[in-house]
Formats: sequence, structure tokens, C-alpha cells
Amino acid sequence: MSITDVRLEVFQNAGGAPSPVYLGRGVTDLLGEVIRKQEFDRLFVVTDEVVGRIHGSSLSAALQESKHQFIEFPDGEASKSLANFEKLVKRVLDKGITKRSIILAFGGGVVGNVAGFLAGTLFRGIRFAHIPTTFQAQTDSALSRKQALNCQAKNIVGCFHTPLFTFIDTAFLETEPDRYLISGVAESIKNALISDEAFYHYLDENLSEKMLHDPKELHELVLRSILTKLAILERDPSEQNEALILEYGHTLAHAIETLADGALTHGECVSIGMVFDARLSCMLGLLAEDQEDDARRLLERIGLPLKIPAAITSDRLIQTMRFDNKRRGHEVEFVLLEATYRPHFTPTGYCRPVDEALVLECMDACRA
Ligand SMILES: NC(=O)c1ccc[n+]([C@@H]2O[C@H](COP(=O)([O-])OP(=O)(O)OC[C@H]3O[C@@H](n4cnc5c(N)ncnc54)[C@H](O)[C@@H]3O)[C@@H](O)[C@H]2O)c1
Repeated sequence: MSITDVRLEVFQNAGGAPSPVYLGRGVTDLLGEVIRKQEFDRLFVVTDEVVGRIHGSSLSAALQESKHQFIEFPDGEASKSLANFEKLVKRVLDKGITKRSIILAFGGGVVGNVAGFLAGTLFRGIRFAHIPTTFQAQTDSALSRKQALNCQAKNIVGCFHTPLFTFIDTAFLETEPDRYLISGVAESIKNALISDEAFYHYLDENLSEKMLHDPKELHELVLRSILTKLAILERDPSEQNEALILEYGHTLAHAIETLADGALTHGECVSIGMVFDARLSCMLGLLAEDQEDDARRLLERIGLPLKIPAAITSDRLIQTMRFDNKRRGHEVEFVLLEATYRPHFTPTGYCRPVDEALVLECMDACRA
């Protein structure tokens, strides 16, 4: 098979070095051809144990002409830790990694972040590529150049590192557990809500749990989600200015995710965080009440959670938010909406500090 034989879409992820994104159902068959064009001494596939078990052999088959070694670690958010990072550094060094080696990040957003950070920091940066296997990673995290680990709170230690390329094969999504598949769609809903009216209407007309199980419809959703995210990144590839709007819902989401300790997925926390930010936007008089439910309607339709879990107290959330990586001064900062598709812009940018008393009042309103 050659690269022209499958339905393939190639996008450029703008900014910095060129970084093509190949999208196609079955596109993994072409990975070997793309890898063989690179010069390297060793090839490492970094993945988690679940993805390695389910899809490791098919990836190996695609890479058959290029000698490679697998490095696996336990799946789940707990692996985005400094301790796991240290273990991985030692393991790849033992296996002879050099500045001329390439790392393939093969898995969901956790693998992408961990392997991306490993590649971005080993020897001050070696080449890597993304082969994302979850909806979330295919449509969101693998398109970002941000790589990160958690330490006390989410994504505290990190770097920017651009992949050589990203290979998005929607066939992988057919084995993704429903809960993660649905969670991944939370970021697509968010990206539509903050920036893309046409995509929002498409979701409003088509989004259902059933469409996520139809390979053609799912492929279409992945494609549209990618285009929406890349449009934002094209205008701000370093994610320092306009692309901060991608953090909508994330200040609370990251605190909940940290405190829920694995009980909630990233997307579930983003869902709760978006409902919260809509309420906060209304309480600040920015967002009209009749637009408050624009996200909630779609999130509810695919069964995503909307309320802050009763077991997590507001005091603990506030304490955790103090470590939020958007914070500049004393107050916790939020991305807010003035209207659907129109994030609130302040003289200091898209993040706005909000008085703690109001944040607490909003938390009360967002509980059961
Ligand atoms: N800019 C960014 O870098 C960015 C953006 C959004 C999210 N993220 C990060 O992404 C992470 C969440 O990623 P995620 O939702 O992909 O979760 P994940 O990586 O934890 O994967 C979810 C689960 O699905 C399994 N899995 C992965 N692919 C599979 C497949 N094809 N078939 C069967 N099982 C499969 C994994 O082993 C894991 O158990 C969070 O840490 C979040 O912070 C980063």
C-alpha cells in the first residue's frame, strides 16, 4: 500500500517546525513508510499497558521493517507523575536511547503527555511523533505542542515540544471504552462553544451516543473536531494568547480531576467545569442567562456529568485551584464567556481573576 491508496487528509499544524497531521481510517498501515524516511539509530514506542496489550502487535506489524522496542507503563492519570518520568528516563537510557533516537507516543492523552515530555526534555529534546488512540487525544491533546506532568496539581511541570508528525487512525477508537470515548467529546463541545458556530450547530443537530458507534459518523466528528482545534492553534501556536480560550472549563476541571484521584476522567471534569464557567459568566453579568445552557444541553445528551461531586468540598477545590497554572496574582483565574462563540477578553487577556467569595457562591450553585 502507498500513501495515496487510503482516504487521507493531511493538515499542517501551524507555527514552529512543520508538523503534518495524517488522518485516515487505517492510516497506520502507512506509518512504516513515513518512519523509514527518517534517519535514526533507535526507535522507541512508548505506550501504556492497555494500549500495548490491545494494539501493540498491529503497531509492530506496521513498523516491521524498522527495528523498534516497546516501553510500557501502567495506564491512567497516575502515570503523569515525576516518579514515572524518572523511571522512564532510566529505562530508555538502559536501552541505549541517544540524541539520534525517535520516540513514538502511542496511546491516549496520558501517554501523549508523558512521552512528549520525555522526548522534549531528554538530551534537551529529541524527535517524537504522536499516534493517538483515544478520541480525546486524536482531536485535542495530540494537536497541542504542550507536554506536561502533574505535581500537586495538573500539568505543573511541562514544556512545548513539536512532534515530527501525528498519525490519526480512527479505527483505534473502535476499542476505546465508551466512557473515555464520550469523555473525549467534552473537549469538542467546548471548542465549538468557544469558537466555532458552524461546528456547534453540527453538534446540536447530530450529536448522540449512537453516532459515536458509527465508524463513518465518528470519523466525520473527529475530522470536524480537529479542524476546529487547529484553527485556534493556527492563530496562536504558542498557546499564550488567544489559545488560552481552550482552557474554558479547565480551572475547576483540573482541581476536580486532582481531588477525584482517578474516579473521574479528564473529559468528565471538563464537562462539570464548563457548566460552572457558564454559571460564573452569568453571575458576573457577562453571559446572558438564555445562553447559559448551550454547553449543558449537549453534554447532558451524551450523559456527561454536570455537577460538582458532593464528596469534594469547596474549600479543597479552592486550595487546589491556587496551584492552577494560569494563576498570575493572588486570585484564581478563569476563562469566561460573553456569549456563545465569544470568550470574554480583558485588558490582560482571556483569563480573568475572580473573587474567591463569588467562586464559592458559584460552587454552591453547581452542586446537586
Ligand atoms: N494540551 C494537552 O496536552 C492536553 C489537552 C487535553 C487533555 N490532555 C490530557 O490528556 C489526558 C487524558 O487523555 P485520555 O482521555 O486520552 O485518557 P488516557 O490516556 O488515560 O486513556 C484512557 C484509557 O483508555 C485506554 N485506551 C487508550 N486508547 C485505547 C484504545 N484505542 N482502546 C482501548 N483502550 C484504550 C488507556 O489505556 C486508558 O486506560 C489527561 O491527562 C489530560 O490532562 C492534554
